[in-house]
Amino acid sequence: MGAGIAITGSGSAAPQTVLTNDQLAAIVETSDEWIESRTGMKHRHITSERESLSQLSAIAAQRAIAMAGIAATDIDLIILATSTPDDLFGSACQVQGLIGATKAVAFDLTAACSGFLFALITAAQFIRTGVYQNVLIIGADVLSRWVDWSDRTTCVLFGDGAGAVVCQGIDSGDRLLACQMYSDGSQNNNLNLNYQSKSPNLVADVTTQQGTYQPITMNGREVYRFAVAKVPEAIGKAMFHANLTAEDIDWLLLHQANQRIMDAVAKRLKIPQHKILTNVAEYGNTSAASIPLALDEAVRNGKVKPGDIIASSGFGAGLTWGAAIFQWG
Ligand code: ACO
Repeated sequence: MGAGIAITGSGSAAPQTVLTNDQLAAIVETSDEWIESRTGMKHRHITSERESLSQLSAIAAQRAIAMAGIAATDIDLIILATSTPDDLFGSACQVQGLIGATKAVAFDLTAACSGFLFALITAAQFIRTGVYQNVLIIGADVLSRWVDWSDRTTCVLFGDGAGAVVCQGIDSGDRLLACQMYSDGSQNNNLNLNYQSKSPNLVADVTTQQGTYQPITMNGREVYRFAVAKVPEAIGKAMFHANLTAEDIDWLLLHQANQRIMDAVAKRLKIPQHKILTNVAEYGNTSAASIPLALDEAVRNGKVKPGDIIASSGFGAGLTWGAAIFQWG
């Protein structure tokens, strides 16, 4: 225990309601052709009033736990990567309650679309030091709650979902081969979901900060430029530390923000296009959920097999980005 990490189970869940490009074209001035040619997206899944982030997370978590062949009561730690909790105090404990992981400690981690990777790397520290044996990592977001549905430059991009993996300590070998994390606060204004206060007067000389979060704003071109430059750099460094070359990589698993970003990153890394794991056409950008959601689909449809080497990268608001190279199973 404590020597290394294996990722032994995955699971995912998406809301039932599907929103098509054509339906979006009825709300804002856009078209199926524009959205698909610029992003690769056809559909996204949108959370209804009967669903919640915690419920989606719990379903994804239960599927990952079942695949790992352990019980919820075996989980020591739950990290829920999300920027859209049901409760601003955190939703990880709600998920813990829903799945009955009675022995686990649970907390949220916020790093937007890099959240899942940051959570994986955080979990690895607890496992490698022998503090915890079984860690459940969930990436989940319901950005549909925070999209301005009249802004065509952002509303066409996002969807909702949840993905989860179980990481376990193993005696020998370490299947997390390398990882990198970065942030650049000087570019923070390129992607925000900001709080805005109305500053109402409480009593004389005392105002409060009561208000609400404002819909997502994004400088798409800058975020695009940032992703295409930084993601290959981060994966390249991780490959160097893992002593691997592009030919050793079986699958490229990127945050599903835009098919064009994924294609450009693969090209820069000289990884052939057929090695890109993508489901952006079906789900759009599901933020922290996108990497584990795409991983789970690829595992369940038999694409990703035990021993396969996966180069993964998340990037997004903060700005934050990171890379991890791991061996599945
Ligand atoms: N339908 C039709 N036209 C549109 C739409 C739309 N939905 N959105 C924008 N346009 C128009 C623009 O107004 C612009 O018109 P103009 O030339 O008259 O000004 C034109 O299309 C081109 O706009 P661009 O912004 O240059 O389009 P681009 O090719 O850059 O694609 C996109 C935009 C898809 C947003 C791209 O920039 C992108 O993917 N950026 C990265 C986003 C991202 O990766 N986010 C990840 C992080 S998410 C997170 O952390 C939560």
